Amino acid sequence: MVKISLIGAAGQIGTPLSLLCKTSDIFDEISLYDIVHVPGIATDLMHIDTRAKVSGYLPDDGGLKKALTGANIVVVTAGIARKPGMTRDDLFKTNAGIIRDIFVQVAETCPDAIACVVTNPVNSTVPVAAETLRKAGVFEPTRLFGVTTLDVVRASTFAAHALGGKADPKHYKVPVIGGHSGATILPLYSQAEPAIDLSDEQLAPVINREFPGGLSQDHMLKTRLGVQFGGDEIVKSKQGAGSATTCMAYAGFRFVKALVAAQNGQSVSEEAYVYLPGVPGGQEIAAQLGVDYFAVKVEIGKNGASKALPIGNLSVSEEKLLEVALSDLKTNISTGVSFMRA
Ligand code: LMR
Repeated sequence: MVKISLIGAAGQIGTPLSLLCKTSDIFDEISLYDIVHVPGIATDLMHIDTRAKVSGYLPDDGGLKKALTGANIVVVTAGIARKPGMTRDDLFKTNAGIIRDIFVQVAETCPDAIACVVTNPVNSTVPVAAETLRKAGVFEPTRLFGVTTLDVVRASTFAAHALGGKADPKHYKVPVIGGHSGATILPLYSQAEPAIDLSDEQLAPVINREFPGGLSQDHMLKTRLGVQFGGDEIVKSKQGAGSATTCMAYAGFRFVKALVAAQNGQSVSEEAYVYLPGVPGGQEIAAQLGVDYFAVKVEIGKNGASKALPIGNLSVSEEKLLEVALSDLKTNISTGVSFMRA
């Protein structure tokens, strides 16, 4: 019996994610929670011929608690999205309180569930979630993930675009470590499998092209902003209508599918943003890097992260990018932790 709770399900990520969950046929129960619309979305999804029973809960009458009751997996996409000119950090003021309130209820209702945070800024909202669970005395780091899968998806996709021709993005596996915003996103092309035949000069725009604020929409759509600023490309292109939704739902679902596969006994690994000191193998990485929260490849088992894998050997240019990533990440982490400790 697998139940997933999607918190923020009426949003532009939550709704396509709920569709992917329902059509996948890997769930017995899907509960949706949001401040509007979810009873209707649930009814709509219930006309799809897969076995999952879908229910939708609004805030009145303890709706969040009802949505979370019995959940094995919780995915939080609730919160506001970026508009042009905003960074993910600009969302913290609003989204931090939303995450705290949701995790107060997670702690009370389903402390053993595996919780996945999509809500930005992930680098800071995951520490908020962790500190909320810790305050309630139920923090189990192996069961809390910041979802960074979209960076992994972009890393292989953008490299395949740069290779041109018939390169299939799915053919390449590129580890992406660090965090989920700007320079904290560090794709490790030196560890790509199979090797990607691009020079450092060709890889530079795939990883990070300076954000060309002055370029025309037409040019923007023809140009990649690189893995580090892929999110900005979508924000700009949507012209005020929000940020990534369908590709984020796709990536979130890929992560959730891995969790379910692990619960069914398969051996799986994915990159995710975790609290390193609490995950087996993570303490060494935390000591090496000097940060507690970091996205690394994790082996996933029935109870969440079973092992954080070492970051491996980096190229000289990746070492430089890591330094920048760590410096930004330290600020982001302390923003989240201080919010809860204030
Ligand atoms: C993304 O990477 O596309 C998302 O984190 C949304 C955003 O604000 O960029």
